[in-house]
Amino acid sequence: MSKELPKGFLWGGATADFQYEGGFDEGGRGISSHDYETDGSKEQPRHHTMKMPDGTIIEPNSSFILADPVPKDAQPVFLDDQYYPSHKAVDFYHHYKEDIKLMAGMGFNVYRFSIAWSRIFPTGEEDRPNEAGLKFYDNVINEMAKYNMEPLITICHDEMPVNLALKYDGWNSRRVIDDYVKYAKVLFEHFGDRCKYWLTFNEINAVRGFGPTGVHNSFGQDRYQADHNMFVASAKVVKMGHALMPDSQFGTMFAMSAAYAATCKPEDMFHSLQENRENWYFIDVMGRGYYPRYAQEIWDRHGVKDLQMEADDEKILKEGQLDFIAFSYYRSSTTKAGDDWFNVGGSSNPYLKETPWGWPVDPLGLRYTMNEIYDRIQKPIFIVENGMGAIDKADENGYVEDDYRIDYLKDHLSAMADAINLDHVPCLGYTMWAPIDLVSLSTGEMKKRYGFVYVDMDDKGNGTLKRTPKKSYNWMKRIIETNGKAL
Ligand code: BG6
Repeated sequence: MSKELPKGFLWGGATADFQYEGGFDEGGRGISSHDYETDGSKEQPRHHTMKMPDGTIIEPNSSFILADPVPKDAQPVFLDDQYYPSHKAVDFYHHYKEDIKLMAGMGFNVYRFSIAWSRIFPTGEEDRPNEAGLKFYDNVINEMAKYNMEPLITICHDEMPVNLALKYDGWNSRRVIDDYVKYAKVLFEHFGDRCKYWLTFNEINAVRGFGPTGVHNSFGQDRYQADHNMFVASAKVVKMGHALMPDSQFGTMFAMSAAYAATCKPEDMFHSLQENRENWYFIDVMGRGYYPRYAQEIWDRHGVKDLQMEADDEKILKEGQLDFIAFSYYRSSTTKAGDDWFNVGGSSNPYLKETPWGWPVDPLGLRYTMNEIYDRIQKPIFIVENGMGAIDKADENGYVEDDYRIDYLKDHLSAMADAINLDHVPCLGYTMWAPIDLVSLSTGEMKKRYGFVYVDMDDKGNGTLKRTPKKSYNWMKRIIETNGKAL
């Protein structure tokens, strides 16, 4: 069966500001909640650096799924002996022309990037936006337009101005909804003439903790309250976006890794149903516009007793439903009765190989996930992240023979084509994570590389930042040129 995709399919790549952009103290950008996050590794979790009122330094684990609580009276602090990857990242801020040209060289017709909230509103509370911040993204979008590359903008990719986190406990506070709506309105008024596709949040079902959501305690009541406030914020912004930009289309990005039952034992099957609901909860509310009945069971399980909802919220959620369901897919996971609910690693799956970071490689899982989402929500889908973090060995010219990445992408793109061509799942496009090497979110490393383009930089930020296309660059170019036929 041919792997050629329908005409108009969007092919591209995806990045996030604090992993890619750098320039953290340039152009009037404020400090973001991620800027105090150190580097780490698979063995050594990243942490925030903070100071207590008595001067004691604390370093809570900032791992985005299992973050430690952060004391309310702790103030973030930069320490001289620590490396903070978001400050420079891989310096897209000064390399955007070169990088966009490289992306265009592969034939991308879409590029997904996020806007740093603190570049537009440095503390989140200003009345007027930072013009230099708007100008930077104007330059990026105008550069893309030269190559007919469509923007797909993530309004909030796991971060916020740190001021909102410290002062209001981030998304745990209802007032942050208004700050977010004000921020989104500026983006729509400024970029709406050139941008049709928007994502209100990134991986809303996976992010926890101070860095991504600004909350000091990321579990139980606080966690679900923050989620509710984000649902309302997203719905308000979708409604406003539709009114301001009649052609606009909105998604939110969900982290999807189907949790297979480890065995057909009924207890394992039921556990997998419940664990999958931890993710469906988000897609159901935002994709269908109301809380599913099983939400109460989830709240009970997590000790949520007093979720604050306002009288209008139900109506807002209904009116601000998403137009498409965007998701990231890297892996599947496996679960059994007794595993904990945020079973990040999952039980092992004897049928799958793993990446060096222990992520199971499961291309058919992508086809499975695409079908599941569409069957359930009946709205077009968009794969906005997929890729393989690997250790690349560059030669003296920076060239990498990354056949393992080609194999990973070939298998996943073939599975995607089957979901589209054989199962008839409507899919708007595919943006690979991440076309140019950048900083890993979970570990803060550079050595976990995803790109088609090698960036000369090590885990501590040393290197020339020189960009060199890898072997996979030309391979991907051919796939896009043939609209998938060459898979
Ligand atoms: C997703 C995020 O979780 O996965 C990205 O949206 C992230 O920000 C990507 O980089 C890959 O994860 P990691 O930890 O390998 O960088």
